[in-house]
Amino acid sequence: VVNIASFYKDTGMFTYDPGFTSTASCESKITYIDGDAGVLLYRGYPIEQIAEQGDFLETCYLLLYGELPTFQQHQEFVKSVTYHTMIHEQMNRFYAGFRRDAHPMAIMTGCVGALSAFYHDSTDISDPHQRMIASIRMIAKMPTIAAWAFKYSIGQPFVYPRNDLDFSANFLRMCFSVPCEEYKVNPVLARAMDRIFILHADHEQNASTSTVRLAGSSGANPFACIAAGIACLWGPAHGGANEAALNMLEQIGSADRIPEFIDRAKDKNDPFRLMGFGHRVYKNYDPRARIMQKTCHEVLAELGIKDDPLLEVAMELEKLALHDEYFVEKKLYPNIDFYSGITLRALGFPTTMFTVLFALARTVGWIAQWKEMVEDPSQKIGRPRQLYTGAKRRDYLPSAQRG
Ligand code: ACO
Repeated sequence: VVNIASFYKDTGMFTYDPGFTSTASCESKITYIDGDAGVLLYRGYPIEQIAEQGDFLETCYLLLYGELPTFQQHQEFVKSVTYHTMIHEQMNRFYAGFRRDAHPMAIMTGCVGALSAFYHDSTDISDPHQRMIASIRMIAKMPTIAAWAFKYSIGQPFVYPRNDLDFSANFLRMCFSVPCEEYKVNPVLARAMDRIFILHADHEQNASTSTVRLAGSSGANPFACIAAGIACLWGPAHGGANEAALNMLEQIGSADRIPEFIDRAKDKNDPFRLMGFGHRVYKNYDPRARIMQKTCHEVLAELGIKDDPLLEVAMELEKLALHDEYFVEKKLYPNIDFYSGITLRALGFPTTMFTVLFALARTVGWIAQWKEMVEDPSQKIGRPRQLYTGAKRRDYLPSAQRG
């Protein structure tokens, strides 16, 4: 806490907390993290149990409504999500406006923001029914938007959703089906995709979620808020880390080069960091990373990929780093992004799609957090203060007199 006695007047006491390392911005009932113990709970349920036994849409229901659905509620929820999987046909033209080589995250940010131009009714945030429709629309349309961003970037025709398939199978089909041949979804891979979505569904007040809440605190419509969240997620210190982690593993290339990279990560004169390592909240093993590692092994086994050199590098790197004094002392453990890149690549996604998949899954967390904020009667517009360190008051001089 610092006393902001500026040269103007004493404006009182503020907390100065760059990066909000010890500032709670809200109350929330959605997700609990114990970073020291490596615990993550969605509405009280351990992530390990949900990832093992649940499915993604059930997780969406849990995050949105606060309870797991009954069998009938689950069926109805699946029905209402599948009802909204199509995107307006004119969105086709929106895609066509992007350069062929546009990053799919850039396309996603634009298309999601543009949804508010197509679904005006959902921009009325004062109506609880419309808030729920907006939430379901976001969850349902995101796979279609993401798959189309992918198809556009590889020059293939868009594949429309098939509502007889479950959420993740439909998504894989929209990504990998081509008109000339029948695409059969592999149930093991669809299950792995679903689990990856569950692991990314929410993570309390991370940078992108805080962005969504801050944007929403002004009363902005939910599509605009989610577009802001996607833009924030794209950064390499946040959702972009899975892409960066895979690039790093490729750069390392073989186990004998690991010590060189560990030394670089420890060197304060070198900006290099071990991507996929460290976390603001987890000072223990990220529980999602453990499940991701297991999912990675399952996917590679299903695809018959033996001895993936990148997986070998990753496992050896983890082993060495976990025994290295620097990483032990700073409590730097693998985070979810460390193994997700290898898994997603094996599923057939290029690195540019990794953060898109993260955004797809995190949409439910963003929208649940947005709803919780809008429905909180004590909610105020977010407006941090600052410590002003600039010039003191001075008088304007016409340019001819400035020397
Ligand atoms: N490699 C090497 N050193 C590291 C790493 C790393 N990956 N992460 C942190 N450190 C060091 C820092 O240099 C710093 O050292 P110092 O105390 O000597 O200055 C110390 O550990 C603390 O690091 P901060 O950056 O202050 O910690 P912060 O909580 O702000 O950052 C972050 C967390 C951004 C995740 C960081 O660990 C990082 O950059 N990791 C790599 C990127 C990454 O994997 N991001 C994914 C996060 S998970 C997610 O978004 C889903």
